[in-house]
Amino acid sequence: LERTFIAIKPDGVQRGLISEIISRFERKGYKLVAVKLVVPTKEFAMQHYDDLKGRPFFNGLCDFLSSGPVLAMVWEGQGVIKYGRKLIGATAPQNSEPGTIRGDLAISVGRNIIHGSDGPETAVAEIALWFKPEELLSYSKVTDKWLYE
Ligand code: GTP
Ligand code: MG
Repeated sequence: LERTFIAIKPDGVQRGLISEIISRFERKGYKLVAVKLVVPTKEFAMQHYDDLKGRPFFNGLCDFLSSGPVLAMVWEGQGVIKYGRKLIGATAPQNSEPGTIRGDLAISVGRNIIHGSDGPETAVAEIALWFKPEELLSYSKVTDKWLYE
């Protein structure tokens, strides 16, 4: 099954939104297969956001991501990469629909509380950047058969 990298950024952790955000992915039916709380170094943050290098907000973004604990996660499920982005909502919270995580819980683009991989290739790369292979679990749940036909 497909896997994606999801991270609750320092603002989401500080605002006490960990359980709220995990709950939304969990209730949808996705399976948590890896999780850890880490303070990334600035160098690590720069690697994570490497594709945005050169943008005017890049430095501030990397300072911010490395400013405190981040909850790094891998979620698994059919279509989780694309639909996970739908649950998260548009990058700028003023454009995020109500009902999405950013739409319901955030106001500004530089404090949009959550990250999600934007495609299959970035999902693979980000999971490999943030987690060692042995940190990724494979397990079954009794609900699996009630989620998939
Ligand atoms: P992520 O899931 O965090 O990768 O967000 P995204 O995929 O919706 O957006 P993108 O990858 O383009 O940008 C990464 C992050 O940079 C965003 O989540 C924002 O926090 C930040 N960002 C993007 N555009 C802007 C901007 O115009 N100004 C500022 N201050 N931050 C921005
Ligand atoms: Mg992105």
